[in-house]
Amino acid sequence: MQLPLLAPALLVGQVLGQTHDISRDDHAWAPAGPGDFRGPCPMMNTLANHGFIQRDGRNITRENAVNGLRDGLNFNPTLSNIMFDQAIIANPEPNATYFTLDQLNKHNLLEHDASLSRSDAYFGNNHVFNQTVFDETRKWWQGPIITASMLANSKVARQLSSKAFNPTYVFTLVTEEFSLGEVVAPVIAFGDTENVIVNRTLVEYFFENERLPTELGWTRREDAVSLETILHATDTIRNATRLYTEPINSLSKRKLGRNPHFG
Ligand code: HEM
Ligand SMILES: *[C@@H]1O[C@H](CO)[C@@H](O)[C@H](O)[C@H]1NC(C)=O
Ligand SMILES: *[C@@H]1O[C@H](CO)[C@@H](O)[C@H](O)[C@H]1NC(C)=O
Ligand SMILES: *[C@@H]1O[C@H](CO)[C@@H](O)[C@H](O)[C@H]1NC(C)=O
Ligand SMILES: *[C@@H]1O[C@H](CO)[C@@H](O)[C@H](O)[C@H]1NC(C)=O
Ligand SMILES: *[C@@H]1O[C@H](CO)[C@@H](O)[C@H](O)[C@H]1NC(C)=O
Repeated sequence: MQLPLLAPALLVGQVLGQTHDISRDDHAWAPAGPGDFRGPCPMMNTLANHGFIQRDGRNITRENAVNGLRDGLNFNPTLSNIMFDQAIIANPEPNATYFTLDQLNKHNLLEHDASLSRSDAYFGNNHVFNQTVFDETRKWWQGPIITASMLANSKVARQLSSKAFNPTYVFTLVTEEFSLGEVVAPVIAFGDTENVIVNRTLVEYFFENERLPTELGWTRREDAVSLETILHATDTIRNATRLYTEPINSLSKRKLGRNPHFG
């Protein structure tokens, strides 16, 4: 599985004198080795590449997820528990207590169309990083600082592309909520959550390397990330996806009556 992609990764590991089963726990980055599981989530892959969750991508329990998200990103346990509750359906076993990263690949369960950095399942591999797709996304990130508006534009553009060209395009209201969380995730990990902006260089480095941008000067945020942090940022993106430029309640009956299309 995924051999053409894993082969170069293995070579790099050998050149650096590392293998995928390095046992030291200093959170050094190492790519997945043969037999390791990775999936469609660039951050879970990244946390595995640093050993914040199992480097082999298997058997991620509630405790593993809560500890990994705390140690890697300073997520508070309440938030991480909610995320684990949402993710556990990925393991088809009844009453499962863990999931593996490749179980996240199942199309239209958690994995969905119009991702920022993965192809739609209809066009190809739905879970490995895809530079063509990511280039389509980052075309909308027009400055050194990515704003909520730019993130929203890239999300809408990916959806429009999928809706137009993928005859199997599916995007439910549940997907919309997950998607908003994913689009804002780089801000949560690397940016300013209040103003919903993030340094583009850090975000591109993260997606393209599945690596925390530590060597670019990033450090884990000091204030813990809560559900409230995420909801504020998500709502900002949601609002920024609107394609009209007036406040949402500005269309009065009087104005509607004046519209020439309705007499
Ligand atoms: C329990 C923890 C998590 C699970 C189970 C999980 C699972 C997933 C899944 C299944 C996807 C694929 C959706 C798609 O088809 O695009 C995804 C995408 C994504 N996730 Fe996660 N995720 C988790 C935590 C995080 C965290 C903490 C971050 C960063 C703060 C993050 C960032 C992202 C991003 C940016 C995407 C979008 C990738 C794209 O559109 O190409 N995730 N995640
Ligand atoms: C770990 O996950 C694998 C499936 O990837 C499963 O076969 C195995 O039983 C799990 N091990 C434990 C200790 O839960
Ligand atoms: C799963 O949990 C439920 C509720 O605790 C229990 O009734 C059921 O027997 C469990 N199923 C399995 C396969 O263990
Ligand atoms: C990357 O995505 C494009 C567009 O969906 C697709 O045509 C191409 O086959 C994908 N590349 C790989 C290696 O899957
Ligand atoms: C973004 O981060 C890079 C790498 O740390 C840094 O060189 C650059 O100055 C930052 N850009 C802005 C606009 O702050
Ligand atoms: C989003 O828009 C609604 C309706 O205009 C507004 O009430 C809300 O404060 C906005 N939220 C954010 C976070 O900007």
